[in-house]
Amino acid sequence: MNYNFSGVSNRIFRSEIREILKWTRKPGVISFGGGLPDAALFPIQDIIDITREVLERKGYLALQYGPTPGENEFLEALISHMAEFGEKATRDQMCVASSSQQGLDMLALLFVDGGAPIVMELPSYLGGIRAFSRSGADMRGVQMDDDGMDTDHLQKILGELHRQGKDPRFIYVIPDFQNPSGITMSLNRRKKLIQIARQREIPIVEDSPYRELSFTGKVLPSLWTLSDGEGVIQLRTFSKILFPGMRVGWIVAHKTIIDKIIMLKQSVDLCTPSFSQPILAEYIKQGKMRRSIENAIECYKPKLKAMLDALGKYMPEEVKWSMPTGGMFLWLTLPERIDTKDIFMTAIEHDVAYVIGRPFHCDRSGGNTMRLNYSFPSVEQIEKGIQRLSGAIKAVL
Ligand SMILES: Cc1ncc(COP(=O)(O)O)c(C=O)c1O
Repeated sequence: MNYNFSGVSNRIFRSEIREILKWTRKPGVISFGGGLPDAALFPIQDIIDITREVLERKGYLALQYGPTPGENEFLEALISHMAEFGEKATRDQMCVASSSQQGLDMLALLFVDGGAPIVMELPSYLGGIRAFSRSGADMRGVQMDDDGMDTDHLQKILGELHRQGKDPRFIYVIPDFQNPSGITMSLNRRKKLIQIARQREIPIVEDSPYRELSFTGKVLPSLWTLSDGEGVIQLRTFSKILFPGMRVGWIVAHKTIIDKIIMLKQSVDLCTPSFSQPILAEYIKQGKMRRSIENAIECYKPKLKAMLDALGKYMPEEVKWSMPTGGMFLWLTLPERIDTKDIFMTAIEHDVAYVIGRPFHCDRSGGNTMRLNYSFPSVEQIEKGIQRLSGAIKAVL
């Protein structure tokens, strides 16, 4: 049969990264490729206990359809979770979602028609790039440095777009311990970004799954907080601070945007599962979320240190890397002449894998970069894997 697919179907592609990551299944390979939390952190027994208790006490609600913006009890728990990290939101500024990826999907549907420009960091989150390109966005990349998005370059791009009568629908940023680079946007840059966006009346999408995973105890005020809730749409999730399996996150934005999102969500999935919300609400209420975040930090901080130490010990001088202070990823930059896709099989021969950098760049630059994940491998694997990786890189340099 000849299927007559939609225009959208022409804009969905098999992931280039998935294609090469199948090599990580080769026995003995140490992979820095994925982006998974360490499963040893999953609070399985607590979730069993709370699930039983929730089902016994109010199974009639947990197994029923629920309100589209989310269960009130859960929204209140989210408000208290945000308050612990110095952030404020009211119930009418929030909508629960099936994790951040659904938030990105809905924002793409809400703001992006074919050819609509949007602006993002170089590099940026792959799932965001995929959601926006599926909607036919004209994606423009802004350079980053150690302080995050380069706001001078942003001004330049926005000026060019404006002159062409193509002001972007939004600016997409991941300010805290960015995936993929591990870089955190400085306070000055945050303020500058808000000022620029406000002047030009362009909304900011602040995607922040790693916000709570600070290894220094320091968390900068979010763009949502700095902007006083005006012009910023914030995406949050439990995927990286607790576990991704329940697929629960939340969107924080001005009521006007939230109302639109709620209407849209009714055509997407009616409501985020009523089953997971009371379980997570109870988990937060019992103070267990804070403990989970502390456990994740305790687990990932030494892993990052092991990676940085091994990089310093084994990598040749021409290789540079980011210095994250939280999150799950680190970014490696090789000399321009090397394409990390071309040397991937050399790395596999050395029994180590990574993710190539180009797909994280909406302009397809960054061929000489790679992302390394440190949350999933053990400290021992990190030390050994970086030694192998530097062996592979030295072999091609
Ligand atoms: C920056 C960023 N946004 C969104 C997501 C999607 O997360 P989830 O849909 O599991 O909440 C991820 C996951 O890796 C991410 O790194």
